[in-house]
Order: sequence, then structure tokens, then C-alpha cells
Amino acid sequence: MVLRQTLLAAARSDRLRAFVSGSRATRGVVDRFVAGEHAEEAVRTAGELAERGLLTSIDHLGEETEHPSQAEDVTKGYLHLLRLLGQAGLTSSAEVSVKPTAVGLALGDEGAQLAAENLSRICAAAAEAGTTVTVDMEGEQYVAPTLRLVASLRGDHPWLGCVLQSYLRRTDGDIAAMAAESGARVRLCKGAYAPDPSTGYAERRDVDAAYVRHLRRLMDSEAYPMVATHDPRLIDIATTLARRFGRTYDGFEYQMLYGARPDEQRRLADLGAQVRVYVPYGSDWYGYLVRRMAERPANATFAARTVLRR
Ligand code: FDA
Repeated sequence: MVLRQTLLAAARSDRLRAFVSGSRATRGVVDRFVAGEHAEEAVRTAGELAERGLLTSIDHLGEETEHPSQAEDVTKGYLHLLRLLGQAGLTSSAEVSVKPTAVGLALGDEGAQLAAENLSRICAAAAEAGTTVTVDMEGEQYVAPTLRLVASLRGDHPWLGCVLQSYLRRTDGDIAAMAAESGARVRLCKGAYAPDPSTGYAERRDVDAAYVRHLRRLMDSEAYPMVATHDPRLIDIATTLARRFGRTYDGFEYQMLYGARPDEQRRLADLGAQVRVYVPYGSDWYGYLVRRMAERPANATFAARTVLRR
């Protein structure tokens, strides 16, 4: 718990970010969880995963952009990525994931409008390419604006996916709202940031219990559940619930992060399930990687070993 809090604080430290990002010693760790620096490398990875029967959602790394020009660069990066996916013939297996603050949501009063415009451009490009977009969920202060953003774009793009985090107490209500929307693509995860104790669950068992509750609600609904977890117990429960509510393998999907439990990804795909791998790429990997270490001490140990070997 203390390690998790320390690492999540480190994820927000600019000085540590500058130091670690400049170090060549971290390369091995980055390579395990990040597909590469450029869109071309992410597309190549998506192609390799598609050959193994795995779907992908590609994320251009970066968050909390501090200037509209950065948000514009990220948006153009997604448009380029979508063009490449189209050229590679991968749009039936690969979609994109977008962090709202990467396209401007954190930019003060005009942020919501800017993020809506940029996300709308990405959605239009995805529609033209024949694929979909899922909106990631970030720290707690962005949850309500992100849900408004998704709601404002779902009219034009009903396939626009959204992430909900089971560690937040409000998610029971958010799940109920999404469950009523026919075909709403909902990615359910535990949550990777540090929620306030008054609005989020601090204990792992409470988060897990909430996840099961949310999963049950989603499986018994009109929505399309995207089960984003590596937790073996929750994966089993998801499988059981899907069966209980008459969902076949095309009625939901499992999702895992690139580099996490690749054998389990393969095993589920071999059973005939849809498995989507979240593939991040880009040079701004610091915050993403530190969150991976916070949620799993084995990842931090792997990082320490790799760095010490050099
Ligand atoms: P948790 O970390 O609690 O681990 C439970 C158990 O799972 C472990 O004890 C171990 O047995 C197994 N396990 C977990 N990781 C493993 C690994 N790497 N290797 C082997 N076993 C492992 N969060 C967020 O806040 N906003 C978002 O938009 C997203 N998006 C997102 C997309 C996708 C596709 C995924 C898979 C996850 C996210 N997340 C996220 C992250 C999510 O909230 C969460 O932090 C991580 O998935 C870790 O939680 P788990 O459910 O995997 O279980």
C-alpha cells in the first residue's frame, strides 16, 4: 500500500520524470510494456498480435498536456496512426484509445471544448478508417468531464467506448446509466490512479467486490462489456457471468495490457474468446510505466533488476 502510494506520487513528479526518461538504463523496462516510440512500431505490433488472433487498442502515450499546441500534436498523431492502420489493413482488429487530457481536457476553461473538438476529429478519422475509439479514464477530477465528453460525442459515434473504474464509489451509478444504453462499449477496470478515500475504495477487497458487482450489472444489460483485468479470479467470474446471462464470445471481450500475462491472452483467444491487448507507444511513457509498477510490485522488481544489470 505504501509502495503503491509512493509510486503514484512519483508518477506525478516532473523532476523524477526528467531523470528517469533520460536514463538509458530504463530501456529494457520500457520495451516490455511499450511497443516503441513511433506509430509505425505500434502498427507493426498490432499486426503481429493480429496474426496471433489478438485484437488491439493502441494508445499514443502522453497525458495532461499543458498547451493547445501539444493537444494538436497528439490529435495529429492519432490521425496519422489511423491512416497507417487503414493502409496496413488492420482496422478490423485494431482500434485506438485516447486520454482526454492528452487532447486538451486539462487546459482550463476552454479545455472541455478543445478536447471535444480534437476527440471528434479522431472519431471521424476512425469512422472513415472503419474502426472505433475508446476513451480512457484518468484521475478522479476528470471523471465527470470525461463522461460528459463521451455523452456529447456518442450521438454521432454510438460506438465510442468509455472506461469506468470500479475503485470509485460513483461507478455504481455510472454503470447503471451505461447499462441502459444499447450496445454501449464499456471497458471496466479497477482503476490506476489514487482516489480520495471519501469517494473511492482504499481496500483491495472492496475494489474487487465492486468490480464483480459492476461486471454482473454490465453482463446483465444491453451494453457491450470490455473486461479489462489481469486478475485470474475476476477473469473466471467474468466467464461465468457471461455464460449465465447468455452471452456468447462475440458478446463481450477480455482486455489486457501489452506485456502483461501474454500466456493468458493466448489461452483465452485459443478458447475462441475475443481478447484485446492495449498497446501503448510514444516517448512520453513515464507516467504509464510508473502506474504499472504501482499496481504490481513484480513489475517494480523487474524494473529494478533490469536497471541494476546495466
Ligand atoms: P490487480 O493489479 O489488482 O492484480 C490482481 C491479480 O492479477 C494479481 O494478484 C495477479 O495475480 C494478476 N496480475 C495482475 N497484473 C499482472 C501481470 N502484469 N502479470 C501477471 N499477473 C498479473 N486504469 C484506469 O484508471 N483508466 C484506464 O483508462 C485504464 N485502461 C485500462 C485498459 C486495459 C486494457 C487494462 C487491462 C487496464 C486499464 N487500466 C486503466 C488499468 C487498471 O485500472 C488496473 O490498474 C490494472 O489493470 C491492474 O489491475 P488488475 O485488474 O489487472 O488487477
